[in-house]
Amino acid sequence: MASIQQELQASISFRSQLDEFSGSRSISCALRYHPHLMPYTLRKATLADRPAIEQLIAASARGLSREDYSDRQIEGAIKTVFGVDTNLILDGTYFVADNDGELIGCGGWSKRKTLFGGDQYASRDAGELDPKTEAAKIRAFFIHPEHARKGIARAVLDRCEAEAKSAGFQSLELMSTLPGIKLYEACGYRGDDRVELDVGEGAVIELAPMRKELR
Ligand SMILES: CC(C)(COP(=O)(O)OP(=O)(O)OC[C@H]1O[C@@H](n2cnc3c(N)ncnc32)[C@H](O)[C@@H]1OP(=O)(O)O)[C@@H](O)C(=O)NCCC(=O)NCCS
Repeated sequence: MASIQQELQASISFRSQLDEFSGSRSISCALRYHPHLMPYTLRKATLADRPAIEQLIAASARGLSREDYSDRQIEGAIKTVFGVDTNLILDGTYFVADNDGELIGCGGWSKRKTLFGGDQYASRDAGELDPKTEAAKIRAFFIHPEHARKGIARAVLDRCEAEAKSAGFQSLELMSTLPGIKLYEACGYRGDDRVELDVGEGAVIELAPMRKELR
C-alpha cells in the first residue's frame, strides 16, 4: 500500500515530469502510462469548499453507484444523507483532493460520535469520542467518476488513519455504501453485516458497518 509520503512524492515527481513536457500529448502519454500519478494536492477542506464538495458528492454518487443502487435510491440518499458534515471541516479532519482548483475527491475522519450523514441528516451526535475506548470514524469518501481507480481514496484513507492514530485512536469504524465496500476491504476493513436506511419517498439503501484495528 502506498503511504501518503509515497503519494506526495509521486505527485511531486509527476509535477516535475509535467514541467519537463511542453505539449499536452506528452502529458496525456504520461498519464496513460502512470494513471495513478495524478497531479493533485491533498489538503484540508475549508468552509469555502462546501458548495464544490456538495457538487462532487452528487456527481460521485450518480456516477459510481449505479451497479448497486437505483436512481431513486441514489437521489434519495443525496437528498437525505450524503453530504458535507461541517463539524469535520471545522475540526480540520476533512480532506479534498484538489486538481488545480477542481475538487476530484473528498473524505475524512472524525473524533465525534456521528457515524455517517451530512449536515442534513437528522440522526447525529457531535459528542467527542474517547480514543482509549472508542473507535474513530471514517467519513464521507467520494471520488469524481472521471478520477476513480487512481488510488485517490486510498491516499485520503492513509492520511485519515495516520491522523486518527496520532490522536490516540486504536480502531476505526465506518458505515460503507455498497460501492464503498471493495475500497475498505482492500484497505483492511471488515464487516459482514448489512443494515437498511430509509432515504425517503419509499426508497431504502443497504449499508455495511465496517471496522479496522490500528496497529
Ligand atoms: C468507493 C470510492 C470512494 C473508491 O474511490 P477510488 O479513488 O476509486 O478508490 P482507489 O482507486 O483508491 O481504490 C483502492 C483500491 O480499492 C479497491 N477498489 C476501489 N474501487 C473499486 C471498484 N469499483 N471495484 C473493485 N475494487 C475497487 C481496489 O482494490 C483498489 O485498488 P486497485 O485500483 O489497485 O485495484 C469511489 O468509488 C466512490 O466515490 N464511490 C461512490 C461514492 C461512495 O459510495 N463512497 C463510499 C462512501 S462510504
